[in-house]
Amino acid sequence: MQRPLRVVQLTDTHLFADPQQTLLGCRTWLTCQAVVTEAAAYCPDLVLLTGDLSQDESAASYQHLVNALRSLDCPVYWLGGNHDAASVLAEVAATGGWRPEKRFVQGGWYFVLLDSTLPGQVGGWLQRAAMAELTEELTQHPEPTLIAMHHPLFPVGSPWLDDSRVGNPEVFWQAVDRHPQVRVVLCGHVHQEHTWQRCGVTYYSTPSTCIQFAAQADTFTLDPAFPGFRWLELLPDGRYTSGVVRVACPVTVDQDANGY
Ligand SMILES: [Fe+2]
Repeated sequence: MQRPLRVVQLTDTHLFADPQQTLLGCRTWLTCQAVVTEAAAYCPDLVLLTGDLSQDESAASYQHLVNALRSLDCPVYWLGGNHDAASVLAEVAATGGWRPEKRFVQGGWYFVLLDSTLPGQVGGWLQRAAMAELTEELTQHPEPTLIAMHHPLFPVGSPWLDDSRVGNPEVFWQAVDRHPQVRVVLCGHVHQEHTWQRCGVTYYSTPSTCIQFAAQADTFTLDPAFPGFRWLELLPDGRYTSGVVRVACPVTVDQDANGY
């Protein structure tokens, strides 16, 4: 049997220029390094970064991630999130050797990276023109397809987070529903693991490499769970498996924090 393509998704690293700086009590650089080390042991063929890579929008914060990911020795594809500075991220990504493509074929799968951010907004939104392009592309690409974006399309059951999911998921479903080759949709943003099914497509959210948000919480609540990453093994005939690896590392979080 052909070896599957091994993909690692890393998301919501929230790094700072100063590696000592903390986000709600968590040293995001330390937890990111621990997760990247574990991900490297998985020997991925490619890495997908799904946004909120920086917390302070500095070039240095992105450069830390470029440096850390060199240990994986594989192509790195990336998306921004609502916390990112799009132009700074794009510049460091280019100089750091990350791949610029938002569409590519590898291992017999078609990969689509969608920008779900709206400048100045926390919540997600998908542009109609981009969805029209996606429909056209899916008509031309019969390969099994994986789509990644920062924001989730589904509610996670926490009102404070669900207010900032993709605000117009119907335009996405109008684009993909007629294309059964779409198998997997990945997101970050919610700092917790979820799985949804819709029309034969599996939608996954993935833990952050730093702080975790408590599931089903009505208001902002941190979860002391370990950080992690998602792995996927993709076969060219469209079959796949996926899971989340949690990485045991010292995560100290400020449980009295009431905002993010
Ligand atoms: Fe985030």
